[in-house]
Amino acid sequence: MKSVNVTEPFLPPIEEYIEHLKGIWERNWLTNQGPVVQELEQKLQAYHQLQMPVHCVANGSLGLLIALKALGVKGEVITTPFSYVATTACPLWEGCTVKFADIEPDTLTIDPRAVEAAITPQTEAILATHVFGNPCDVEALDAIAAKHGLAMIYDAAHAFGVRYKGKSILEYGDASMVSLHATKLMHSVEGGFVVAKDSAVSDKIEWMRRFGHKGTDDFHGVGVNAKLSELHAAMGLCCLNHVSEVFERRRLCSQYYDQRLFSEGAKTKVNTKLGPGIQLRHGAEKNYSYYPVIFDNEEAVIRCIENLQKELIFPRRYFYPVLNKVGFKILESDFGVSESIARRILCLPLSAQMCERRLEAIVDAVLQ
Ligand SMILES: Cc1ncc(COP(=O)(O)O)c(C=O)c1O
Repeated sequence: MKSVNVTEPFLPPIEEYIEHLKGIWERNWLTNQGPVVQELEQKLQAYHQLQMPVHCVANGSLGLLIALKALGVKGEVITTPFSYVATTACPLWEGCTVKFADIEPDTLTIDPRAVEAAITPQTEAILATHVFGNPCDVEALDAIAAKHGLAMIYDAAHAFGVRYKGKSILEYGDASMVSLHATKLMHSVEGGFVVAKDSAVSDKIEWMRRFGHKGTDDFHGVGVNAKLSELHAAMGLCCLNHVSEVFERRRLCSQYYDQRLFSEGAKTKVNTKLGPGIQLRHGAEKNYSYYPVIFDNEEAVIRCIENLQKELIFPRRYFYPVLNKVGFKILESDFGVSESIARRILCLPLSAQMCERRLEAIVDAVLQ
């Protein structure tokens, strides 16, 4: 029996990738902002209906580092302890001081009231994650950032294609980073992209990701190598071609989970173990990037994992552990909600190629 992991990369038909490779071979142009990267950037911009340019990078983490650098953030950054380790590691890597603000218990995104309470004269930026594609309270956060003169950066690693109140979620804040890692619903194997509202910041991001080059022999300033290669961009174009079908298949899987775990009929069976599902922010559209469930207690999570593993199904405790527990030097604050959720959350497998039989086995194991 084949094992099932929490996320399985989508692979487009190989012939489509080979077609792109032929062009790359003919041009013998492998990297350095070649035509495939340029086409991917234009298509990502059009897909999200953005006016601002899209800057592809080699991975989302480099995108976050560059966004922090381009916005001149060097001091204290307020962020969420309930995110992937990169959200905290990037500002620390940049030499910033990190302070956590707790999350909202229903949406799992950073709580604007906790953010405002954490602001000090040293604070320079807020870095907030659209958790599992669920948008943060962007109106409140953008307003707090503006009121206190802070940079507002969104870790939109999970938020490919998310729309909020009729427009792309990437329109909020000063800058956003989307990951195109292989485990994401749209990917380029490794990769990511950054957008920034202010054209001067956007221009900086554009040159910072390619050593700071201004032509061949001149430089705008210090940069780094965060270029996406033509081969990665080709995978991005192939996956983008199939993205609506990937969305639809993931929507159907999520609908199956919803019906069997959370519909009226299911409630009597599972309400002793599962809390309510995560609250989608009002005005947001789901992108089906993850299927998290929150249990009543940690023992129930561990039992469920054991049951699933017997069936060769590997869910993931995600995000776990909470980021104040990973040994980084973080300023003290209160993050009880994040700690409680991290202990009780599990992301069930979700991918475009899951068959009904496996979905059934997963739900049976959760209900055991
Ligand atoms: C919330 C979050 N932020 C940042 C990243 C880093 O993105 P990348 O893997 O593209 O560097 C990830 C990756 O999974 C993530 O989940």
